Amino acid sequence: MNTLKNVDKSEVILSVKNLVKDFPLGQSVKSNMMRAVNDVSFDLRKGEALAIVGESGSGKSTGARILTRIYDKTAGDIEFKGEPLSDYIEKYGELEYARQVQMIFQDPFGSLNPVHTIYHHIARPLLIHKRAEKEAIPNLVYELLEMVGLTPVKETAEKYPHELSGGQRQRVAIARAIAVSPEVILADEPISMLDVSVRLGILNLMADLKDKHGISFMYITHDIATARYFAEKTAVMYVGHMVEWGNSDNVTQNPQHPYSQLLLSAVPEVGKSGKRDMNVKKGDIPSWKPSSVGCPFASRCMKADKLCTQSIPEPTQIAEEHFARCHHL
Ligand SMILES: Nc1ncnc2c1ncn2[C@@H]1O[C@H](COP(=O)(O)OP(=O)(O)OP(=O)(O)O)[C@@H](O)[C@H]1O
Ligand SMILES: [Mg+2]
Repeated sequence: MNTLKNVDKSEVILSVKNLVKDFPLGQSVKSNMMRAVNDVSFDLRKGEALAIVGESGSGKSTGARILTRIYDKTAGDIEFKGEPLSDYIEKYGELEYARQVQMIFQDPFGSLNPVHTIYHHIARPLLIHKRAEKEAIPNLVYELLEMVGLTPVKETAEKYPHELSGGQRQRVAIARAIAVSPEVILADEPISMLDVSVRLGILNLMADLKDKHGISFMYITHDIATARYFAEKTAVMYVGHMVEWGNSDNVTQNPQHPYSQLLLSAVPEVGKSGKRDMNVKKGDIPSWKPSSVGCPFASRCMKADKLCTQSIPEPTQIAEEHFARCHHL
């Protein structure tokens, strides 16, 4: 893999505008729909990480699955390298797009096949995507294992997934993803199932791939603290909506949306203990429908008034790279 010395970080690789995804609530054609993703827009730039942060059910994985074409979108526009995604795929094919946009999952064991060696897992994408002549594959596999810190490489290559630790398995999943020189990695909670002691190592490995090789990351997480550590940009999602987004420092150090403030107040701090003031109502998390109106956080928000239950707030710009959707800004 080439090291990119002069990565142009202004180049937008993936652009998502007003993305919407509805799912039927039942099996029949006439079922009501639920809206899992509503009006989501962002740009992912070359060599940059965008963290998507939010609690369970906020639509994070659905967004990633639309980008990898596991799900169709209901509405909205996706551009890849400056072209509408459908045009790009028509020109270069599904396989080429799949090569460029790789996914890493939460459970590194589930994503590896127990009957195959580590060598097989990494050689396979190289063969499928015709990345090298057959004779060159072993050395490429060893190079990739070295890159992700799995040494001694030959010994590791001969092992089966169950012979590795969780952190090592996630390194294999990363080696497999970068084997095909992707432009983008969509990492869906890549460290949440790992032992706390190995999480930082995986984040640092991804940071290296981003900074040295210009790979762009969409980093999906529940944990706003790791978002701040790893990603230049952060978007906070609540019930399918992006409620606050921008530069990670701005979003995490000066959160404006009551939901972002809640997420940050829940981050444990060394030396502080006891019950924290969560400043939130005990309202239910709403199930959003295409016909729903208002701010999705209104039922739990201390500031909510009549307007908040009637219309979705437009984005308010707080700083050059900082936006939030709240009627009380
Ligand atoms: N295939 C599907 N069919 C119907 N509903 C779905 C489907 N996939 C997701 N949903 C619904 O869409 C909503 C968003 O789900 P999603 O998996 O994107 O959330 P998430 O933010 O990734 O949550 P988690 O943090 O738990 O992984 C949820 O209410 C979920 O039940
Ligand atoms: Mg998910």
